[in-house]
Formats: sequence, C-alpha cells, structure tokens
Amino acid sequence: IPGDGVLTGFGRIEGRPVAVFAQDFTVFGGSLSEAFAEKICKIMDLAVKFGVPVIGLNDSGGARIQEGVASLGGYADIFLRNTLASGVVPQVSAIMGPCAGGAVYSPAITDFNVMVKDTSYMFVTGPDVIRTVTHEEVTKEELGGALTHNLRSGVAHFAADDDRACLALIRELLSYLPSNNLEEPPAHRTDDPPGREDALLDTLVPAEPTKPYDMKQLLLAVVDDRRFLEVHEHFAPNVVVGFARFAGRSAGIVANQPAHLAGCLDIDASVKAARFVRFCDAFNIPLVTFEDVPGFLPGTAQEYGGIIRHGAKLLFAFAEATVPKVTVITRKAYGGAYCVMSSKHIRTDVNYAWPQAEIAVMGPEGAVNVLYRRELQAAEDPAALRQQKVAEFREKFANPYVAADRGFVDEVIEPRHTRRKIVAALEMARGKRDKNPPKKHGNIPL
Ligand code: HXC
Repeated sequence: IPGDGVLTGFGRIEGRPVAVFAQDFTVFGGSLSEAFAEKICKIMDLAVKFGVPVIGLNDSGGARIQEGVASLGGYADIFLRNTLASGVVPQVSAIMGPCAGGAVYSPAITDFNVMVKDTSYMFVTGPDVIRTVTHEEVTKEELGGALTHNLRSGVAHFAADDDRACLALIRELLSYLPSNNLEEPPAHRTDDPPGREDALLDTLVPAEPTKPYDMKQLLLAVVDDRRFLEVHEHFAPNVVVGFARFAGRSAGIVANQPAHLAGCLDIDASVKAARFVRFCDAFNIPLVTFEDVPGFLPGTAQEYGGIIRHGAKLLFAFAEATVPKVTVITRKAYGGAYCVMSSKHIRTDVNYAWPQAEIAVMGPEGAVNVLYRRELQAAEDPAALRQQKVAEFREKFANPYVAADRGFVDEVIEPRHTRRKIVAALEMARGKRDKNPPKKHGNIPL
C-alpha cells in the first residue's frame, strides 16, 4: 500500500524546523508494519542529527498482526530511538484516535502526550481482550479516554477539545522549548514591564494559616502577559506545573496549590513535578518554584503506595537540576517538603520568602503536640495552654526570619514585588554554569 499507513517529513513551526510523522488509521487501522517503522526511524535519526523536535500524530492499533515479529521489531526500533532522543530533542505525541499496544508505549517514552477528547484512546490492551482475560466490562472511553489519562493515570499531559486544538496546543508548547538540549529556549517579545507590581498579591494569602487560596492567581499575576501553559492540569492538582515567560524568556513553574489537599505533596504530585523538573533541566529551562506546602500527605494509602520512594523522586530531580533555580515561599514550608521544594540546600540560586512565610520542621499545632504532650496532659486547662504554646511557637519559629538569618532565604520580599524580583534573579543567573559529577547516569528512585 503506498505510504504504508504513515506520512513522515519535516516542516516549520514559528520558523523553526520540526520532524513530524502522522499515522493513517484508514490503512490497516494505522497499525505498524516493518516499512512503517523504518519510515519513522528515518526521520527520528535525522531529527536527532539536526537537533529538531519530533512530533508524532498517533492513530494506530499497534503492531500489525499480519507482520508478526517484524512489526514487533519495528516497534522496538522506535522505542530505542525514543529513549536515545530523550533529553536531546523534545518529543511530543498527539493521540488522535484509538491507540493500543506499541502505539502507546512510544508516546509513553516521549516528553508530552496530548489527547483529543472523545476521539482518542490509549490502552495496552483494548476492552475486548480485557473481557476475555479478566471478564471486566469497560468501555473504550472509561478504559483509556482523554479524561481517564488526564485525570486518573497521568499518562496524558493535555486534553484538547478537538484535532485542531490539539495541533494548536503543540505549537504553543513548542514556543516555550528550545529545539534541542544544546540551545536556549527562544526569546519572545513582550510589552509587559519587568517591574510591574500587583497590589493583589499583598492580600492573596489569607491571614488565617489554614485558609486556602488559589496559587494560579499568583502565577498569572507575575508571569509575562498573564500567559501560563499548564501541564498536567487535571492530574494531581495539589501541585501546579507549566510553562510561562519572564521578560520574554521561558521558565518552568512548579507551585504547590493550597486550594487542593492544602497543597500537600502526595505520590501523584511528587511524580508529576519530578518529571517536569527533569524535562526543564534537560532543556535549559530555568525553574521557578512557588512554595506553600504543609508537608507530605500522611496516611496508610500514601505510605503503602510508596510516598517515600515517590517523594524522593522530586527531591532527586530538584537536587540534580543545574538550570537557574529561583524559589518564592509564599506561606508554609514545613518539614521534608521544605527541603524538597527547591530549597537553598539543594543548589537553588535565589530563595525569596514573603513576610507571612512559615518555615519550620512542622506546623505549630503538630509541634506543640510533640513538644508539650506531658504538660498538656497535666494541665488544668489544656486548651488554654495549647493556645499559648502555639502562639509562642508561631512567634519564634513560624516566620521567614530564622531561615533568612541563616542565609537559607536570601531576601524577604513584599508580595507585590515578586515579578520584579524573579526577573532580576533569572537575569542574574542566566549565564549559570553548574554541573554534576561525571557518571553514566544517576539512579533516580523509580
Ligand atoms: C492489523 C489492524 C490492527 C492491527 C486494527 N486493525 N488493529 N490490523 N493489525 N493491530 C484493522 C482492523 O482489522 C480493521 O480492518 C481496521 O484496522 C479498523 O479496526 P477496527 O477494530 O474496526 O476499529 P475500532 O473499532 O475503532 O477499534 C480500534 C482498535 C482495535 C481499538 C485499535 O482495532 C483493536 O483493539 N486492535 C487491536 C489492538 C492490539 O491488540 N494491537 C496489538 C498490540 S501488541 P478492516 O479491514 O476491518 O477495516 C503491540 C506490541 C508492541 O502493539 C510492543 C509493546 C511493548
């Protein structure tokens, strides 16, 4: 069959070259044959040689059954190239139809998966096989639709309303990225003044420490032109990650979201943020972290699920990252989460805190329970004693000045000055050179 079910070639997005392959479901369900795989491998090899991103438009039933092992071999050839290209050129997968088997494992290795709502699916095996093997009844949509993978599994990073929106989103995404790991991200013109102040920020954090607020309001207020491309918007919303620009230059943003789970780090949030941090580090995109985190989410579900291992991924990712790193603590920075969220100790270049920041081993209530348990048990009026001790603790430890005194916070800033301060820090760190000890690769706790 002419073309054998896949179109491959090069084009330009905003003037910069990209490699693209598009699978054609009308040819054997877009299934992958030996020749189909050779065509994809050919443009991937060229893309790596040229240093240009690879975009895959996926619409495929997986390995072409009639071709047997030749087709499986073709997939493995692609997986190898996906792996070797990882961290060298950005790889973006659009899922634009039913995708099964190898047609989901290749996207899984790429950097970003964009799914189209209502028309795209991803699964290792489809509903028919599941019915036969496990007797489970499940629809394609429930099993592997855009919302399933954006909300539940985290396999997909974006959900687009239709094919056109999917392609537009990929173009927007690429505007934040360099073409390869040896380039800087492209600079964009902006009329948004770098010193712009926003008085809203002074009142964003509620006086009551347990009251939530929307971290996205802060993000929109400080980035260029209020433009923020959120990645993994629907997955683990207790942490927010995405791309924005400061004074025309790309930055990767990682922010705790107090409006969900009080901004706690749980398994999904840790893995989501860790992967994003590593992507940014691989592609020379500075990291800006906004921190308001009461700690890791407690509970048996999290402990049995391996929060220790998964939380360590985020710690590892921030610690190994050598791109410019800037952190702003807006309120809580407690316990291990303080260390993890791009603290000074793991090579963050500039650490700011807002005046209401609370930086301590744990929150005042928890601390008082541990430190004064015996006194509280013996007290005539335990509630009054607790209140007094909490107030004392808050005064003494739950503020940014202890950390600033030690140099762990460089400056306590007025919230309204946040944009100006971040722009200045990123400007200062632009020529940063930092490296890790020579090694084959680290052993991130997967
Ligand atoms: C050859 C295939 C095919 C395949 C679909 N077709 N998948 N032909 N090899 N893998 C053909 C169908 O026979 C049909 O041909 C046409 O494509 C459209 O398929 P439909 O089933 O009619 O479409 P739809 O109902 O939309 O369902 C799409 C689908 C389903 C969910 C993708 O076709 C399906 O489940 N296919 C098999 C998926 C699979 O198990 N693949 C192998 C995975 S193993 P006609 O002539 O009737 O139009 C694998 C190994 C890689 O990929 C290694 C992984 C690590």
